[in-house]
Amino acid sequence: MSRKLVTYPEEILSRKAVPVDVIDDAIRELVRDMAEIMYENRGIGLAAPQVGEGLRVIIVDLSGPEKRENLMVLVNPEITDFQGECDSEEGCLSVTGYQSVVKRAEKIQVRALDLDGNEVFLDAENLLSTCLQHEIDHLDGVLFIDRISRLKRKFYDKRLARWLSKKD
Ligand code: NI
Repeated sequence: MSRKLVTYPEEILSRKAVPVDVIDDAIRELVRDMAEIMYENRGIGLAAPQVGEGLRVIIVDLSGPEKRENLMVLVNPEITDFQGECDSEEGCLSVTGYQSVVKRAEKIQVRALDLDGNEVFLDAENLLSTCLQHEIDHLDGVLFIDRISRLKRKFYDKRLARWLSKKD
């Protein structure tokens, strides 16, 4: 597998991803790679831009990297309804060493295609809801650190710059 996890501040993470036209073998291979990378890095969700592909594809598996029981693949997902508000404690595989509370909608409705090209509709709440909002944000070039206060963001960017300068 040539794909690997892309991390902030790589440019593709802030770019809007394009819709998938045809669900073919290339897309199925992309999804396999995404799942492998997500599980390897102990994540519960991943979006295609995080492996360097600017396509509207996300995966979520709340059962976690040990069980791997419930992989959900959504192609061209769209949030069609938002309800309520909640505080969501988030991190991201593409944002190294940082977690923060983000405001999210409490419940959402999502419309998408599955890997067979069938239209699927789902109602999500709790962790599934916030996770889907986080992953769909990735498709619009938005990271959870774009949704925190300016002061917190400054603090994170400074710390990252210090860390990156030590690395080379
Ligand atoms: Ni993320």
